Order: sequence, then structure tokens, then C-alpha cells
Amino acid sequence: MSEQTEIVKEIQKLKKEKNAVILAHYYVGKEIQEIADYVGDSYFLAKKSKELSQQVIVFCGVKFMGESAKILNPDKTVYMADDNAECTMAHMVDLDYVKQVKETYEDLATVCYVNATTRIKSVADVCVTSSNAVAIVNKLPNKHILFIPDKNLAHFIAKQLPEKEFIYNEGFCHVHNSISKEELLEAKKKYPDALCLAHPECTGDLLEECDFVGSTSQIIDYATASDAKEFLICTEVGVFYELQKRNPDKVFHAVSVKQICGNMKKNTLEGVLEALQGKKKEVVVDAEYEPLARKALDQMLYLMG
Ligand code: 13P
Ligand code: SF4
Repeated sequence: MSEQTEIVKEIQKLKKEKNAVILAHYYVGKEIQEIADYVGDSYFLAKKSKELSQQVIVFCGVKFMGESAKILNPDKTVYMADDNAECTMAHMVDLDYVKQVKETYEDLATVCYVNATTRIKSVADVCVTSSNAVAIVNKLPNKHILFIPDKNLAHFIAKQLPEKEFIYNEGFCHVHNSISKEELLEAKKKYPDALCLAHPECTGDLLEECDFVGSTSQIIDYATASDAKEFLICTEVGVFYELQKRNPDKVFHAVSVKQICGNMKKNTLEGVLEALQGKKKEVVVDAEYEPLARKALDQMLYLMG
């Protein structure tokens, strides 16, 4: 038996013994997506975490995802498969700037992309993910929207809701932000029949060249439902596993060598096993900021019905 097969067997055994469930984001490696109980985008995983009967959650993703699961399930034990898997964007907010904007506009709603630390979530009225951001901002009565941390997602929403006035923050995802429009145009020349699907964390000039913009799940669903046979994918390459699994007869191309999130790739089967063996620290969120962060996350779930 190979070492990997042995680890997988041990994971399955311990999962039963410990009444645990494994949640994984589409950006983690194929070997983890294969053994996870649920794989999804960040909204699906946050929502799913609340519906589960298991007492122990092992999260394969980045820190803000594990923290959101813990905030939404304070009585459950949550482990990260890798404690150092951080989303770089999650810290890109200057709280003094938020304070200053809040003092400037009376009717302001502070909307926080879920890719943020607990501290940053705690200053928001509501959290959103890339799959529900437009719908949620559209439901808010406020005209002025301070959107943190992601500037690209903010511009994408603002374009669809011209009646709102956005105040932007300078955060971005170093992975999506680095996929250039020029690279996409080159790929389009090479594969002229391909449809182009992108994540809204990409830059606005690139999104303008695309046929569809959506969350990781929405990209996968769109490609699956489409009659097209060839696609250019502008998001992290982890999605290729599910895209190909659901669509064995279709062809998917990356447009850049930069479509890799090193933090997502820190998750390993060994890390999952160690979490189940109790060798990892539990996810603990800052008690001071947890109640307000929970309110913002609950408000997202409430507005999505
Ligand atoms: P999704 O919400 O589409 O899963 O995206 C999360 C993320 O980190 C994108 O970079
Ligand atoms: Fe964060 Fe970007 Fe990685 Fe997504 S791809 S987890 S936004 S660093």
C-alpha cells in the first residue's frame, strides 16, 4: 500500500471515530478535494458548516475560512489542515481609514468581503462572498457603500449597481490581480473558440474581456451548463479538478502561470491527518471581536434567506 493510501485510510478511520467532517475549498490540491466530505466556494462552505451534525470540522482552505466556520459554530471544534495558510488580502484594510469614512457619511453601510480577518469583519455591517455580493449590496437601503478589502470586487459590484455610491479600499488578491488582460488576449488568440470565465477578484480591464464573471462554484456551474466545449479560466487552477471531473469532454485552459495560490497549496493530507489526531491547535477567534464579526456573517446568511 502506498504511503498516501495509508494516510487516506487513517483519515477515514479517525473521521468516524472523532465524528469529524472535512470541508475543502476548490483551490486546494486534488488529493484533498478527493477525500473531503464537502468541496465548495467560500459561501457554500460557510453555510454548510452551520448545517452539519458533526462536532469536529477540519477545514482545508485559508485562515479566514476556518475562522468564519468557528464564528458561525462557536460550540464546535474547528481545525485548519494548515495553520499557516493565510489569505494575503484578509489583512489589507487600514482601520483608521474605515473610521474616517464612517464619520464622513451618515447613511453608510460597511460591507466586508468574507476574505478578511475577524477584526476587520467586526467593523462591518454585513459580510459578502463573491457569489452573493451583488445581491446583498442591492438589498441594502444605504446609498453609500464602503467596500473592504477587495477593490476589484468592489468595482465589479459598483458597475452593476450604478445607483449606489461606492467608497473603495485598496486591497486585492495578489493571485487574481496579477493575471493580466494582455495574457488573456494572447490566450484568446491561441484559443479563439474558447469562452472566457473569470473570478471578480480579477482586474476590471480583464473582466471586460470575459463572457462570464462569478465565484468559483458559479464558474464551475456555468462551464457545466454551457454548450461550449472550450474555456479560458481566470481563477486559481485548483478549480480545474472539479471542472474536468464534471466535464470530461470539455477543455479548460489557464491564461497565466500566476494562477496559483501558494497558501491554498499549503494544505496537505498529512495536515488533515494531524488535525484529526489532535496534533494541531484548534481555531480560536479573538473574543473581543467575535460577536460583531458573527453579526456581520449572520446578516449575510439572513439576507441570502
Ligand atoms: P470563492 O468565494 O469564489 O470561493 O472565492 C474565494 C477566494 O478566495 C477567491 O480567491
Ligand atoms: Fe486569498 Fe487570493 Fe488565495 Fe483567494 S486566491 S485565498 S483571495 S490570496
